[in-house]
Amino acid sequence: MTSLLSRWRTPGLRLPRHRATNAHVSALYPFHAGVGLGPRGIYVGEDVSAGGTAWCYDPFQAYTDGLITSPNILVLGMVGSGKSSAVKTLLYRSIGLLGSPGGRPRWCAVLDPKGEYGPLADALGLARIRLHPGGQTRLNPLDAGPAMTDVDELRTRRSQMVAALAASVLHRELTPLEDAALGWTVDAVTSERSGPEPTLADVVDLLVNPTDDMTRRAQAETARDLARDIQNVRHALGKLLDGQLRGMFDGHSTERLDWTGRGVVIDLSAVHQDTAALTAVMIAATGWLQSLLAAPESDHVPRRVQVLEEIWALLGSERVAKYYQSCQKLARSYGVANISVAHRIADLRAQSDDGTSAAKVSMGILADTQTQILFRQSSDQVSEATEMLGLSTYQAQLLPQLVRGRALWRVGDRTAVVQHRIGSAEWAICDTDQRLNLDR
Ligand SMILES: Nc1ncnc2c1ncn2[C@@H]1O[C@H](COP(=O)(O)OP(=O)(O)O)[C@@H](O)[C@H]1O
Ligand SMILES: [Mg+2]
Repeated sequence: MTSLLSRWRTPGLRLPRHRATNAHVSALYPFHAGVGLGPRGIYVGEDVSAGGTAWCYDPFQAYTDGLITSPNILVLGMVGSGKSSAVKTLLYRSIGLLGSPGGRPRWCAVLDPKGEYGPLADALGLARIRLHPGGQTRLNPLDAGPAMTDVDELRTRRSQMVAALAASVLHRELTPLEDAALGWTVDAVTSERSGPEPTLADVVDLLVNPTDDMTRRAQAETARDLARDIQNVRHALGKLLDGQLRGMFDGHSTERLDWTGRGVVIDLSAVHQDTAALTAVMIAATGWLQSLLAAPESDHVPRRVQVLEEIWALLGSERVAKYYQSCQKLARSYGVANISVAHRIADLRAQSDDGTSAAKVSMGILADTQTQILFRQSSDQVSEATEMLGLSTYQAQLLPQLVRGRALWRVGDRTAVVQHRIGSAEWAICDTDQRLNLDR
């Protein structure tokens, strides 16, 4: 009986006996643990590269601590590797917890091409906007927004958006005249500040009937000559007014948002299957979102996070990629944290004939993204990822071996391999597999 009790009380770490010389044993270091980025921020998961310690992160905190100089985040990984779950739980925890009363308010805008953020919207009480062709909900991508003060910035923002929209529908770069004419049109509708907000229909009207000023600036004989020379851009924008995408962006917004509440999810799943349409819709929807993001954080304007899923749709051509880059820059200048989600590193390479300038756009985007969350990549992506992200040999070898939910985090010059943890209450917002898994 005694011997049974004493055996019971013996702490049981049953490992095979190991013998080694002093020369080898002196190299053992059993206290391997890291502090990660410190305890401030939200709990993400276990830092498996530092003995399973907690890995906490918050882009605003990391920025304040000087670990990064830009709060932009890139989430990269193959389908099913855990990207969206990581983003949803980051939002759930940071908006729900750090943005709760007593803390600084937080607000998020999610562009959701697959229509999978509905449960998160319900859990956080986010506004939901579902856009579909011919529907009742409409967003005006030319909206100035609740805090617009700088007309020059508004003009630039609108010109870049309209030009990207035209180029994406035309599937080609704009001619210098087309580009300039769109700029003049935006000038004309933006200077008429006394009237109501301009719409894309106003822009198309001016392309059909150019003003005297536009005709003079184009050095065209008559307004009709100019209209003929720019008819292709007019047809391209016209597709959004009366083509298959009608009803989504062709009039005044039916939705009014400001920063009260916790944010908005824009569901674009109705056009997800149509690649060309998705690009145009994402340009227009980000155009509308800019109106909410182009304002500095203040007592009335909360800390904001913008999530763009499926960013390949905004990187298909150099013009659109530059527009996406300008959105990122604008948001960044107002302290917004942009989270961009991509499948493959190749998605970041804008598809352009001119490889050099295309590469410059993507390198610029990457240079401005100092938090990279790299989930599993297929082996054929590794060499390109290594080159574009400047990975070490160890990091490159790791990428194809990462299991679901595990990612290589790079925050400024800190790195860690983190097993992302999903809480029991969070499965309802994460499970895109839509199947019951009793192991959880
Ligand atoms: N950290 C994790 N731990 C366990 N399972 C996870 C984790 N992250 C994701 N999953 C599971 O994997 C599925 C796919 O994840 P998801 O985030 O949608 O992948 P992706 O966006 O990369 O395609 C989810 O439905 C969830 O069931
Ligand atoms: Mg996903």
